[in-house]
Amino acid sequence: MTVKDRIDNLRAELHRHNYNYYVLNAPVITDKVFDEMMHELQDLERKHPEYYDENSPTMRVGSDLNKEFAKITHRYPMLSLGNTYSVGEVSDWYERTRQWLNESFEVCAELKYDGTSISIIYENGKLTRAVTRGDGVQGDDVTDNVKTIRSIPLVLHGNDYPALFEMRGEILMSWEVFDQLNQERKEQEESLFANPRNAASGSLKLQNSSMVAARKLQACFYYMLGEELPSDDHYANVRKARQWGIPISPFIIADEAHETLCKCNSVEQIFDFINYWERERIVLPVPIDGIVLKVNSLKQQRNLGSTAKSPRWAIAYKFNAEQASTRLNSVSYQVGRTGVITPVANLEPVQLAGTVVKRATLNNEDFIEALDLHIGDHVYIEKGGEIIPKIVGVDTDARGMMIGEKVRFITRCPECGSKLIRYEGEAAYYCPNETACPPQIKGKIEHFISRRAMNIDGLGPETVDLFYRLGLIKDTAGLYQLTADNIKNLDRMGEKSADNIIKGIAASRNVPFERVLFALGIRFVGETVAKKLAKSFANIDDLANATPEQLTAVDEIGEKIAQSITTYFANPQNRNLIEQLKQVGIPFARQQGDRSGYTDRLAGQSIVISGVFARHSRDEYKDLIEKHGGKSVAGISAKTSFVLAGENMGPAKLEKANKLGVRIMSEDDFLSLIS
Ligand code: IVH
Repeated sequence: MTVKDRIDNLRAELHRHNYNYYVLNAPVITDKVFDEMMHELQDLERKHPEYYDENSPTMRVGSDLNKEFAKITHRYPMLSLGNTYSVGEVSDWYERTRQWLNESFEVCAELKYDGTSISIIYENGKLTRAVTRGDGVQGDDVTDNVKTIRSIPLVLHGNDYPALFEMRGEILMSWEVFDQLNQERKEQEESLFANPRNAASGSLKLQNSSMVAARKLQACFYYMLGEELPSDDHYANVRKARQWGIPISPFIIADEAHETLCKCNSVEQIFDFINYWERERIVLPVPIDGIVLKVNSLKQQRNLGSTAKSPRWAIAYKFNAEQASTRLNSVSYQVGRTGVITPVANLEPVQLAGTVVKRATLNNEDFIEALDLHIGDHVYIEKGGEIIPKIVGVDTDARGMMIGEKVRFITRCPECGSKLIRYEGEAAYYCPNETACPPQIKGKIEHFISRRAMNIDGLGPETVDLFYRLGLIKDTAGLYQLTADNIKNLDRMGEKSADNIIKGIAASRNVPFERVLFALGIRFVGETVAKKLAKSFANIDDLANATPEQLTAVDEIGEKIAQSITTYFANPQNRNLIEQLKQVGIPFARQQGDRSGYTDRLAGQSIVISGVFARHSRDEYKDLIEKHGGKSVAGISAKTSFVLAGENMGPAKLEKANKLGVRIMSEDDFLSLIS
């Protein structure tokens, strides 16, 4: 092996190990072996300056040179986003966007990282420049400093990236590093950073890049810019960037539990996402200060355009972070529809953001442990929007002699006494008594009747509670046994409401199969998953008998969801309930109408989608292919039937298709083929 070969080898290996370590969090070699390889490479590079490479992994170590930052003009101005603290304004934005576009659209909901923004440029797969936002038109060239951030690839993976593109993202400091840094600064009697954002931007502007390297900054990217992007779909582009090794928010990328919370088709889904992260952000290792909502299609983004200050196609919802401090009186535990136990703090009433707060959420056992919470503690609470406040810290200095007992998570269900369980890899405790624990039964019925499930008009949580308490219903099937006669004399009911309820219940027999599946309330089977399942399985028996392999073969269904479905159907009580629901006429199969417009014109064909389309989005084309019996696949091979090509099909794909003699079909030809 020549010296050059060895150098190339070491560089490639070290890039790979950096990626395993910093992006995948899954190192395959020890730090010691890594350091040895790094030292060998440094040594060889020192002896052979002719093989200098500005993107060598050794460049991460940083230089000791101090210098002024050069000013660089951004290729695309770095606009900021319009922002709001009000969910009402989020609705307004959504409505405005709908009216402006006058066609269906998807919104990508993402975390709003609270760091300092950065633009990085890749040319031919190499990181060539990193520039701060500056005044939006010009920023500081901080390339050397950014190169010390190990999760940012200096060289991209794969080969299907555009020759030139830009990623926008955020440079961040984790809470842990921030606390450590401030601790050190305190010991050295240096001034403290107010928050991780200031610490991150201060670090990025250090003159000495080896000091930057010591600050252990992180990065997260959330937007791609360029002339030849892989897709005309924002979500698809960031996913692609991740394949090239660029760190992307784990919550932007589909993961089983959060995917449905991410691509939103309604303002309700946006609110779900906002509420979820408003509650859960405390568990994130890095700070976020809100949610960013983006119209997903780049074509629609272009249509919407920008005002002088910010794009119309995006908006930032910022969390309210007003704080107060009060005494923790006791902790109680609520049982949700899925049996999840939520610990709630009962507080000495205190004024916060215009309301009196008496209760706050405590998330889960780990959270309580991390706070080392004791009854009688003085706790800091925070509130944002309409959401129930949460405890964000404990004033340990205020702990006197009178401190009460340490808070210990309960071991039995407060409602039914069952022993609680905690699933591997999850923070929450569950009451496993799904079919007999009262709040779980009521919760399941409430979910079943909700608008997006069976949509039973006239019935709400109070009525369900009343019926349940009176023993009129004991599960969802019981609803269908109700008659106007047996409910019309109940408290505050009357003949008309009773009739409406019965009519509403009767009408629910007409909802499509996918909604029935969602209504069952199977863990992790949200609306999106239910739709995918209904597409792949014609009826409930096929689904109930599906093997884990058949389940995971369905687009976007992973092991966790598959496991949950299998567990659900393994329970005889669930099967029994389905039997009863079948008896009363609930549709547990795809109806004829569900498949209108489907043909088998593309049966047996494997189709690759490439380029940018004018008539439909990529996702729509994917759907169309599936609807007509074809299969949409990612890579071109000899088995590919044809490539559905839009504009700017990637040159590598084009070459491969030509080489293999695979037909290239325009979008118009494709549409006439299936029409
Ligand atoms: S999109 C044109 N997405 O928030 C694209 N920004 O006021 C505009 N930020 O300057 C940015 N997380 O520094 C976007 N997921 C996210 C973000 C995000 C944090 C920051 C960014 C931007 C500011 C908006």
